[in-house]
Amino acid sequence: MNISNSYNCDSPIAFFDSGVGGLTVLNKVKKLLPDESYIYYGDTLHVPYGEKSKEELLEYSDKIIKFFESKHCKAVVMACNTTSSVIYDSIKDKYNLKIYPIVQSVAEILAEMPIDRLGVFATRATINSNVYPKEIGKYNPRMSVFGQHCPNWVNIVENNTLDDVSSIEIVKTDLDNMMKNNPEKIVLGCTHYPFLLKILSKFAPAELFIDPAENFAQYIKADLEKSSLLVKNKLKQEEFYVSSAPQKFFEASKMFYNLKTKPELLTF
Ligand code: DGL
Repeated sequence: MNISNSYNCDSPIAFFDSGVGGLTVLNKVKKLLPDESYIYYGDTLHVPYGEKSKEELLEYSDKIIKFFESKHCKAVVMACNTTSSVIYDSIKDKYNLKIYPIVQSVAEILAEMPIDRLGVFATRATINSNVYPKEIGKYNPRMSVFGQHCPNWVNIVENNTLDDVSSIEIVKTDLDNMMKNNPEKIVLGCTHYPFLLKILSKFAPAELFIDPAENFAQYIKADLEKSSLLVKNKLKQEEFYVSSAPQKFFEASKMFYNLKTKPELLTF
């Protein structure tokens, strides 16, 4: 069923991810656009997205985006590298609202960096899709882009076990593997990974890592402005939903976001 969406500049901006990861993006967007209203959906029932098939990701996203249409959102921010990599191309013209995918929106700015060797940490699905090298290659075919899948990082963040010795060991081992390729910069190509900067910067300079959310937020602001969709009546409302374990989300989110109350449980 296609719900026809009607929105205006005062309608909310929607975000979704498999869990708390997208909060790293919401944080940056909210800093640039503090007067907007926001709706966030964390699909915690289906985390990790990085281990899901394209069909599964299409099914989850379809329900979530239709929910956002029913809330008359003006835009959906795919605050998730995995869905941006695997399904964005298949759904980009399907809905009546703007859709911003993180990878495609920041590829040009990454491609313009004055470096030759770029590492990307990401989920299995993002790495397998090859989207980072493909998108960056459109703007700078000379840049060598090599990816590494980090199988345990999303769980470390969702389970809030950042201080465990075993988590620190896992992150260090993955970083050591990446460093064998001599990257000049490393993109945190999963929105959960900026939560791990505290660990990563114990073993390498913090400037080595790029959180693309910063540039993504600027891209979104510029595009909303160009489309005359920046808010006029500043209601500044926020709604948070999850598909399972609201308390767990609430606890993990504290590292990155000042959520006032527990998110609402909502499944489709
Ligand atoms: N945070 C998402 C991403 O950027 C999904 C991670 C996952 O659930 O595997 O890829």
